[in-house]
Amino acid sequence: MENNNQNNMPRHIAIIMDGNGRWAKKRGLPRNAGHAAGSKNFKEIAKYCNKIGIEHLTVYAFSTENWRRPKSEVDGIMNILRDYLKDSKNYIKENIKLDFIGDRSVLPEDIKELMITAENDSANATGLVCHLAINYGGRDEIVNAVRALIEKGTPKTEITEQLISDFLYTANIPDPDLIIRPSGEYRLSNFLIWQSAYSEFWFSDILWPDFKPKDLDKAIEDFKARNRRFGGV
Ligand code: IPE
Ligand code: IPE
Ligand code: MG
Repeated sequence: MENNNQNNMPRHIAIIMDGNGRWAKKRGLPRNAGHAAGSKNFKEIAKYCNKIGIEHLTVYAFSTENWRRPKSEVDGIMNILRDYLKDSKNYIKENIKLDFIGDRSVLPEDIKELMITAENDSANATGLVCHLAINYGGRDEIVNAVRALIEKGTPKTEITEQLISDFLYTANIPDPDLIIRPSGEYRLSNFLIWQSAYSEFWFSDILWPDFKPKDLDKAIEDFKARNRRFGGV
């Protein structure tokens, strides 16, 4: 459990990419212009994480609750996702591996296919593994895991923390060491609620499209100075 890798770098960084709407509003732009700027920024930050040797980056792109937004905004976000997926060859060139977490079943067919293509095409990449959380909700994830365990007829004596972890979308991904939320909100909003049991949190008022590599550096510096005890002394 100890973070014993060299110079205490986080192995896994997770980011709640929040503040796109307010970023657009400040500029008198439609909310979807904010999502486009947020998507562009995500690409930059992913490349930077790859460059500095982060092993896993998980980004919250669309929550199970975000369907409550106006249809025009949801459609706009789905279109931005489509463009990103169609462009994913560029990330594969950078040796970034793509993975999607969340309930895909209700997503448009073409997006599901593009996701599978992106995952397959990048399967042999050896750099950063980038996990995009789309239609992801931490509670939904746990409900799905419980259903799958019951479906398999798992005896109650076999239920362990490890087994539950193995049935989450994040099976085989180490828990996030550092969770970053920009935009001045101080909550998880249903992101990685099981996996964040011992994560370090870093908050900032910067709106996501303005969050730059230097801000990530600052978060990592702060992380390195923290004393993670995991319940010990
Ligand atoms: C985060 O930005 C992106 C998604 C939730 C899809 P928001 O759209 O929540 O931006 P704010 O919080 O309204 O500024
Ligand atoms: C969390 O942001 C979801 C994503 C960034 C994708 P929200 O903007 O949806 O969260 P709340 O509604 O402010 O809690
Ligand atoms: Mg928000």
